[in-house]
Amino acid sequence: MKVTAVLLAAGQGTRMKSNLPKVLHPVTGKPLIWHALEAISKSTTEKPIVVVGHGAEDVTKYLGDSAQTVLQEPQLGTGHAVMQAEALLKGNTDLVVVCYSDMPLLRGETLQALVETQKNNKGPISMLTVHADDPRGFGRIIRKADGTVDAIVEEYVATPEQLQVKELNVGGYCFDANWLWDALHRIPKNPKKGEYYLTDTVELASRAGLPVQATVMNDVEETIGINTRIHLADAEAAMRRRINQQHMLNGVTMIDPASTYIEAGVSIGKDTVIMPNTYLHGKTEIGEGNVIGPNTIIRDSKIGNYCKVLASVLEGAMLDDHVDMGPFARLRKGAHLGNHVHMGNFGEVKDSYLAEGVKMGHFSYIGNAQIGANTNIGAGTITCNYDGEKKHATEIGEDVFIGSDTMLVAPLKIGAGARTGAGAVVTKDVSEDTLVVGMPARAIRKLERKTKKVEK
Ligand code: UD1
Ligand code: CA
Repeated sequence: MKVTAVLLAAGQGTRMKSNLPKVLHPVTGKPLIWHALEAISKSTTEKPIVVVGHGAEDVTKYLGDSAQTVLQEPQLGTGHAVMQAEALLKGNTDLVVVCYSDMPLLRGETLQALVETQKNNKGPISMLTVHADDPRGFGRIIRKADGTVDAIVEEYVATPEQLQVKELNVGGYCFDANWLWDALHRIPKNPKKGEYYLTDTVELASRAGLPVQATVMNDVEETIGINTRIHLADAEAAMRRRINQQHMLNGVTMIDPASTYIEAGVSIGKDTVIMPNTYLHGKTEIGEGNVIGPNTIIRDSKIGNYCKVLASVLEGAMLDDHVDMGPFARLRKGAHLGNHVHMGNFGEVKDSYLAEGVKMGHFSYIGNAQIGANTNIGAGTITCNYDGEKKHATEIGEDVFIGSDTMLVAPLKIGAGARTGAGAVVTKDVSEDTLVVGMPARAIRKLERKTKKVEK
């Protein structure tokens, strides 16, 4: 059976007071429409159709080939919006799931249940409803004596008696496609607003004696629809709770979930502890037994096992195992710290590999460099990688000792076992086991190398 979703996203979202189309506002780092697509993917069999209007260009661009779009211009209501999908879908699907794209907390499982209800319904419509004390401006559900739904009454036309109804229209429907296309053309134009309401299809079915079934949702939180930035903040908090609870159930410890900000899609291994005020964004993967934070921001990075990341910022970086970094360390794109690397305070690493056991304790910048195992980077060391036009590479061998405040003027190679004196400005390659000092540094003597092994 073919099941296709039609996602409504053409409305202006006036109350957001924003230049950004409403459905592109993020909740836990992903646009509202991403959440909607994620939820419908579990209950449908075909590529979804998104009805776009306001901000169509931006929304279409964001969607790429994750959905087909149809333009609704002008926007004459939710019923009119679904009509725009008729040309694409008529004859090509058995069921049509219609959702509004501003409900980021709606779960895939809920839509699956809705589709199941419709598969067992002899009538043409199944819909999602919820019982709630705060009506939030939602349409009220009027039931028939036999328990099926008779009509949806919008708040602004409801009688005082209808306003007392606590069962609300959530805004998720599953239609029998054959019935739907014809019914849409029979929706009367709303006399007050001049729009065609999708909700009026319920009355059309009911009048014809065709049963409309409701799937009643238990979790009111799931039905939060975004109309204002206050709703956006409510949804953000609810989604954050949901994500954090899932991680905790998977074996992650959170000292204070309320101040732990993790985007959908981040993975964390068991026995990792996330300390307060930590932000994990994008495609971030964190292994087991780590301690992350407090006060840490990590984006698009991969962290192995048993690392400690304290009050640091990582972006596009990779840590192997047992790395110890921070406080106040920064890793930028292409930084890769090997096993047992120690990176202390006020260091920055970009596009560089620090092999196993490298120590970089204080105040250093390492860019476009390869650093061999067990090398010590003294306080204040800088790779001078940029000559004003181009970036140049620095290669440092194993067991090197870079003295405090050394300037490494790239391109530069420093052989294994070499040493630089404090304050050296190194402009020429240094051969293995050689001590260089001064400014610019000159070779002064050969050295005996003392290799030390890192303890694991
Ligand atoms: C709608 C329902 C209401 C329900 C509530 C739940 C109708 C008539 N009413 O009201 O019963 O309780 O949602 O949140 O459906 N859209 C278009 N094109 C249009 C108009 C709207 O694509 O011409 C889209 C909007 O972008 C939005 C969705 O449809 O994603 C819902 O529209 P909105 O105006 O927010 O409907 P509500 O008044 O909230
Ligand atoms: Ca709405």
